Amino acid sequence: MPAMKTIIEPFRIKVVEPIRLTTPEERRNLLEAVGWNLFGLHSDDVIIDLLTDSGTSAMSAEQWAAVMRGDESYAGSPSFYRFETAVRDLMPFRHVIPTHQGRAAEAILFSIVGGPGRLIPSNTHFDTTRGNIEATGAEAVDLVVREAHDPDDLHPFKGNIDLERLERLLLDSGERVPIVMLTVTNNAGGGQPVSLENIRATAEIARRHGKPLIIDGCRFAENAWFIKCREPGQGARSVKAIVRDMFAMADGMTMSAKKDAFANIGGWLAVNDDTLAAAARNRLILTEGFPTYGGLAGRDLDAIAVGLGEIVDEQYLRYRVRTNEYIGEKLTALGVPVVRPVGGHAVFVDARRFLPHIPPLEYPGQSLAVSLYELGGIRACEIGTVMFGQKPDGTEVAADMDLVRLAMPRRVYTQSHADYLVEVFEEVVLRRESLRGLRIVSQPPQLRHFTARFEPLG
Ligand code: F0G
Repeated sequence: MPAMKTIIEPFRIKVVEPIRLTTPEERRNLLEAVGWNLFGLHSDDVIIDLLTDSGTSAMSAEQWAAVMRGDESYAGSPSFYRFETAVRDLMPFRHVIPTHQGRAAEAILFSIVGGPGRLIPSNTHFDTTRGNIEATGAEAVDLVVREAHDPDDLHPFKGNIDLERLERLLLDSGERVPIVMLTVTNNAGGGQPVSLENIRATAEIARRHGKPLIIDGCRFAENAWFIKCREPGQGARSVKAIVRDMFAMADGMTMSAKKDAFANIGGWLAVNDDTLAAAARNRLILTEGFPTYGGLAGRDLDAIAVGLGEIVDEQYLRYRVRTNEYIGEKLTALGVPVVRPVGGHAVFVDARRFLPHIPPLEYPGQSLAVSLYELGGIRACEIGTVMFGQKPDGTEVAADMDLVRLAMPRRVYTQSHADYLVEVFEEVVLRRESLRGLRIVSQPPQLRHFTARFEPLG
């Protein structure tokens, strides 16, 4: 049989959501009205929304059918047991504790293991993880391998944790470290995967020092697909078997089901330790709900249970990762610098390098994001000086990098949407030299990227 080269969307579309097509003129007015902050837009004024891959998945017919099966009993709902079975089928932890989304699982975990003086190492903490750690007075320590800091380094596992620095931290200040974490894939580092070998070595070091290893598993299936494609000896194994290996080495996990569970809401905390689980359930009852629903409706638990079966489908994962790789290749050909290799859930554009005439404190990432919206109605997310440049004392510094994240919702957009995105970039490239920076005219004391208002310069 001939092997076809075209990697198609491995699904048909049964329900559609119309996209309202706006004109550049309308979009210019809208930008002015929201102070050039894309978070202020109404999403029906966006043509292609790449703000996040979180909670934006299209659910399958089977998931919607499961929604109808959802049982809304306060305690002991069969929906919970289907959810628990589906989680344990992939991640064999003794206790599975549902939460309304990932950060709720983090808040519960760190309310127990965090606290002043504690250190929590990871490859790179996602910002809600860091926020929940810091809210307890503990310190979040990022120990990703140095290759992760070079956007052109083609290392296959740029999400790996630096094992030497982890070992050193545990030797020097082990008594301050309650747990070791790993984020798969490493979102903050560009959606880069962690190898099975690195997970194994991390688990071994953590065990030797008597520390539990907790995986932030948000994009576990994409991570497993990269392991299958890139790690020696893994190519013939199923993604499901790889996922089981990843988690069998850990002592627990936090999860946002809004990513690799195809759900629009949900999450969980899972652990093996009985004492930790008991403390977590007590906290859960206080903040989320009874342990068999934890801040979710029974129907959400059923949607997650089905989604977990679908996410490890290798045809889906091949198409998923290929979409981002395709966009990355086209942008590279246009001379648009992107973080390589392209990550699992998003393409990260290096706006500082693309717009060298705009200094970091005039926000090249924001300038690029604004022009993608103005020219094509595309909403992306600045991950740079706007997001990270504001210090608690009110001063401002340039972030390490000025990136723009094009995050792909799961099963939502098609090939022609990807081609349209590339075409919008062609227009941006033509106007590159005329793009100007912005200045901030008002901002809140923290997390300014959500509500700051800007004004274009020049
Ligand atoms: N961990 C990682 C690696 C994440 O990417 C996120 C969310 C969370 C934890 C928190 O999960 O949103 O369900 O509370 N990331 C989203 C994003 C918001 O756009 O990358 P949550």
